[in-house]
Amino acid sequence: MNLKNRSLLTLLDYTPKEIKYLISLAKKLKKEKRKGKINKSLFGKNIVILFQKDSTRTRCAFEVAAMDLGIGVTYIGPTGSQMGKKESVKDTARVLGRMYDGIEFRGYLQSDVEILGKYSNVPVWNGLTDTYHPTQILADLLTIKEKFKKLEGIKLVYLGDARNNMGNSLMIGCAKMGMHFVGCAPKGLWPSPDLINTCQDIAKETGAIIEFMDKPLEATKDADVLYSDVWVSMGEPKEVWKERIQLLHPYQINKKLIGNAKENAIFMHCLPAFHGMDTVLGKEIAAEFGSFYQEVKNGEMEVTDEVLESSQSVVFDEAENRMHTIKAVILSTMGK
Ligand code: CP
Ligand code: NVA
Repeated sequence: MNLKNRSLLTLLDYTPKEIKYLISLAKKLKKEKRKGKINKSLFGKNIVILFQKDSTRTRCAFEVAAMDLGIGVTYIGPTGSQMGKKESVKDTARVLGRMYDGIEFRGYLQSDVEILGKYSNVPVWNGLTDTYHPTQILADLLTIKEKFKKLEGIKLVYLGDARNNMGNSLMIGCAKMGMHFVGCAPKGLWPSPDLINTCQDIAKETGAIIEFMDKPLEATKDADVLYSDVWVSMGEPKEVWKERIQLLHPYQINKKLIGNAKENAIFMHCLPAFHGMDTVLGKEIAAEFGSFYQEVKNGEMEVTDEVLESSQSVVFDEAENRMHTIKAVILSTMGK
């Protein structure tokens, strides 16, 4: 499998075979890391990781993966560069491409990561845009494979804002892997018809099933995986919370809902998750909306604390797998 010099802007650009290869390479790298085997095969290379939005997992995963491979890393945060303010993304791409061997980008516009990919002349990896989050999906697929030993036919129900970066990308990942994807959300929060049609076309080739529903109890029947994400994504204005809670409170993953899925079902979430009063926003939402909506009165939103802390929850496996899968992406796209 030769992925050298390829960017990862969206999983739509990767064939099922290429995705499976990245997942199996990640599995191998994880095993090697556990055994303490060191592979600094990219010593002497450098990457830059550019963040217009905050991050814990994606930033740390790229930094650790790169350092494990012997690569030098420069982190640029939301306020640390000229990009977008004094310098166009296109010029930034050509500058960074002269100094670095790979570029990670997290930001708002999918078109920005595409410009970086087009003009930098080095592999560019999408670390999340408003539209897609492909490296998260690779980690999720590895996690599902670890739990169920297969991907084909696994029924994954995504509950929440089904047209955000996670809803879009999970649908693509499931379509490519021949899985059964159910997006469960009010109709106004379903992905664009164009993207659904694209995924239906992929599904015809892979045997996947792509469905949308708006009733959580119907959608989660016989599910293997219940997946949720924040109801308001980075970059959306604070005012959206009111409407989103009104729309999405019936889609919270709680004990009753997960009890409706298969007995060995797992709970997944890309994190960060609102599941209690330990965050500033969790407290604010509970104070403002807790008396109207029972579900959010303890700062629990898309998932209850009980489910996130239960033995069915694999959220920290997913978080760890971000690093192993990102390492597989860097190694195979930048490798010698
Ligand atoms: N899941 C994820 O992308 O987390 P961060 O925002 O912490 O990178
Ligand atoms: N939909 C979320 C994903 C975070 C990893 C966001 O964009 O904020």
